[in-house]
Amino acid sequence: MGQRYDEFADWYDTYVTSGMGQPFARSADRLLERLLGPGADRLCLDLGCGGGAHVPALTGLGWRVTGVDISARQVDLARRTGITATVANAEDLPLADQSVDAVATIMTTTDFDDLPPVFAEAHRVLRPGGRLVVITSHPCFGGAFVERDTHGSCIVHPGYRRHERIEEHPLLGDGIRSRVGVVNVPLPALLNALTGAGLILHETAEDDGEEPIPTLLGLTAIRPRQQLDDLSTPHEQPPTSAMTS
Ligand SMILES: C[S@@+](CC[C@H](N)C(=O)[O-])C[C@H]1O[C@@H](n2cnc3c(N)ncnc32)[C@H](O)[C@@H]1O
Repeated sequence: MGQRYDEFADWYDTYVTSGMGQPFARSADRLLERLLGPGADRLCLDLGCGGGAHVPALTGLGWRVTGVDISARQVDLARRTGITATVANAEDLPLADQSVDAVATIMTTTDFDDLPPVFAEAHRVLRPGGRLVVITSHPCFGGAFVERDTHGSCIVHPGYRRHERIEEHPLLGDGIRSRVGVVNVPLPALLNALTGAGLILHETAEDDGEEPIPTLLGLTAIRPRQQLDDLSTPHEQPPTSAMTS
């Protein structure tokens, strides 16, 4: 089955590597460096790798990289960067349990149809103690319903709370979003999908770009070394001395 990005993969590749999207891609690379850190030849899964725009940053940090993307054309482009890359759905990764040291997913959370199963898969393939780094359009200042003026001011239009795929809207502009649509993900939906997968939120960061208001949000979440208790179940109260006497 053809995927949304198949038709636009080459256009998108030019956009992020040498076009209008390049400053945002470089901002994302700086966030990656800060949140992921050095790889020392360990293995990082680039989840939703697209054409591999962030592979140079990942390999530059010393990570070995393998990519997964649902679009065959994107995977073709990613392979040209020298990495192994596989066509697969992020909800059903062709990787063994605990087989990667890190997962980086960049500009994808507004493309995945459903985040909880994707983060559950990231948790499954991460080794205990490994980290997932998410870099995304800022849900508050870069969402589908945010308009920026030429001075960088943001107007958040009604719609911020809509958690759904938006296919057509005047605010989608004339870039990739008017071509492939966008999933509007309010901040709690993003954070709850991470923690709901059993990952522990470790660090958050915003871009240091030239815009006065951030456009990107970065998160690091760790797969704990031990399974978390079910935090949704209230713990039994320990008996008090009054109860035991
Ligand atoms: C905006 S592009 C970002 C690509 C790359 N990470 C980058 O920053 O240049 C989003 C990518 O997510 C991929 N994608 C969307 N849904 C996916 C899924 N369920 N499984 C794997 N990849 C998916 C798309 O094919 C597309 O390549």
